[in-house]
Amino acid sequence: MKPRIFVSREVFDETLDYLSRHCQVTSNQADVRYTPDEMAAKLFGMDGVITTSSEKVDAELLDRCPSVKVVATAAVGYNNIDVPACTRRGVIVTNTPGVLTESVADYAMGLVIATCRRMTEGEHYLRNGEWKGTFLKQLLGMDVHGATLGIFGFGRIGQTIAKRARGFDMKILYHSRNRASLDEERLAAATYVSKDELLRQSDVVLLILPYNKATHHFISAREIDLMKPTAVLINIARGGIVDDAALIRALKDKRIWAAGLDVFENEPQFLPEFLTLKNVVLSPHIASSSEPTRKAMAMTAARNCVAALRGEAPPNLVNPEVKNAVKHYSA
Ligand code: 8YV
Repeated sequence: MKPRIFVSREVFDETLDYLSRHCQVTSNQADVRYTPDEMAAKLFGMDGVITTSSEKVDAELLDRCPSVKVVATAAVGYNNIDVPACTRRGVIVTNTPGVLTESVADYAMGLVIATCRRMTEGEHYLRNGEWKGTFLKQLLGMDVHGATLGIFGFGRIGQTIAKRARGFDMKILYHSRNRASLDEERLAAATYVSKDELLRQSDVVLLILPYNKATHHFISAREIDLMKPTAVLINIARGGIVDDAALIRALKDKRIWAAGLDVFENEPQFLPEFLTLKNVVLSPHIASSSEPTRKAMAMTAARNCVAALRGEAPPNLVNPEVKNAVKHYSA
């Protein structure tokens, strides 16, 4: 008997082909966003599930679907999954690190430039028919080259962004829970500073750190007050790392110059005041969304899921302590 898996969002044909060779697959090809009750109904009796970052996998869901033994997310971040609850129940959790690094770093630079150079504001100005001619003080932006970039979170993606930023002659500071090795610092030409120093010195503050209890509202009113009034804040990590209400107040009062946001607290909901502000560039959590990268993420999640269900070590195991607690299936 092939194991049964549920794919919670629409996936690519090649992913479905691969999965179907190893499993009995039910996939949400209509791409419906399920309520927790609907999700529990879909998952009932399944051996594994492939999720994205938008589906919550918590203790309640796991208790309602005790047959589930593998949760494979097509994302590097897994704050939507209660990993300790999975581990306690012998459920394997996997993610997709690595395959999205370069695409997210590309997007990060795009958002930095769009925000500093007011690119979306300029587009709206043109589309609204406001462009009557070119004049010297038109949509004056801030230069990216030569600016100081402060990166919070210095894992693979943070270091790759630093590499991109060097090409723009940016000066790079970083802060992370664990300091990088001297080799990594040298390669990225990045200087480690304290959280508050980074906030005080940076022209662009960029967030690419994981979301958890310790990083909830990591940037709130206190931190924004430490930033330069000319500074820009970029969040491509997770909503909830920034206190969005505090950020809106700061953008309104011009406490900082602008923000570029790919993620929001409670997304896909976001505070409607963001829409009234010109000094913010908004995007719908698409930093990893190039076609090859999203395909690679889906295939990585699929391979992780199949490996785990076959009793093999999945390449991207998040909770290694669960390994021996699992009853394996033969696919
Ligand atoms: C994903 C992400 O695209 O990988 C992550 O952690 O935030 C994004 O790259 C998105 O979450 C889809 O699952």
